[in-house]
Amino acid sequence: MPQPPADQARTKSTYGLQWNRFRIVRDDEDRATFANRTGLKAGDLAGTLVLDGGCGMGRYLRVAAADVPRLVVGLDLSEAVLAARDLTEGSPNVAIVRGDLLRLPVAEGSFDHIYSIGVLDHTPDPRAAFLGLARLLKPGGRIAIWIYERESPIVERIMDAHRAVSTRLPLGLLLRLCQATAPIGAIKRRLMTSRRRLVERAGVALHALTIGVSMHPDPEVRVCDTLDWYAPKYLSRHTVEEVRGWFAEAGLVDVVDLSLGQRFHHEGQGNGVNLAGRRPA
Ligand SMILES: C[S@@+](CC[C@H](N)C(=O)[O-])C[C@H]1O[C@@H](n2cnc3c(N)ncnc32)[C@H](O)[C@@H]1O
Repeated sequence: MPQPPADQARTKSTYGLQWNRFRIVRDDEDRATFANRTGLKAGDLAGTLVLDGGCGMGRYLRVAAADVPRLVVGLDLSEAVLAARDLTEGSPNVAIVRGDLLRLPVAEGSFDHIYSIGVLDHTPDPRAAFLGLARLLKPGGRIAIWIYERESPIVERIMDAHRAVSTRLPLGLLLRLCQATAPIGAIKRRLMTSRRRLVERAGVALHALTIGVSMHPDPEVRVCDTLDWYAPKYLSRHTVEEVRGWFAEAGLVDVVDLSLGQRFHHEGQGNGVNLAGRRPA
């Protein structure tokens, strides 16, 4: 018997709110993060058909569109698509579609390039969502994904305990809590980058208590990232081996680990599983 579709109502409400409230375009950082997490260089997308799987408010659509692809399609489940449409209004080579990665509204074998940054781990079934995306590749097409990495068992337990509470809070209240706790992120950042061991340890202890409070240097991004951590119902973490297994199952080749040797745009940017692979030509 086919399973009923999982409940993604909280995903829709979280990201509809988040990406319409925080239209955080940061050109330099967005370009650096896009290059890091897709492994694409200038010109790679020129003349190709591209899919951003889970485009949110469209910050990476803007970067991809600047490479002059034939078309970049941004797909997202939530009303973030409204923000993405506004953000890319002046780009004739961007199309926005509202849809579910688990019930893809796109024909298989359509795209030369697919990227999906911080999305699959927010779906109820990341493996199925990945396999669906991989099927959309043309022969020779390439996919790059970034998702959260599994932490040590103790850190996993702390994260799960925090989120067991936060994901049940009304979004309006949670947003106010994220705003109220944002200064803690700046304090943690200062403490944890201290050269004095005792101070650095104090920072680590504070971080354990407030693990999802972002340490991003920009206060607005900090609030947005903190909400992104505490609000969504689905937020899974994975190992590189597990995700390599998905690439193998999809029949992808030339699989590379993009996380190796990456340079972050700022300290405290999240570690993740970041792989790319190609469908055989
Ligand atoms: C953390 S945000 C990342 C957005 C964008 N990739 C970025 O980095 O700015 C996760 C996005 O995934 C979208 N999403 C979650 N589940 C989805 C699904 N089943 N189908 C399509 N989009 C989904 C959410 O609506 C949200 O915009």
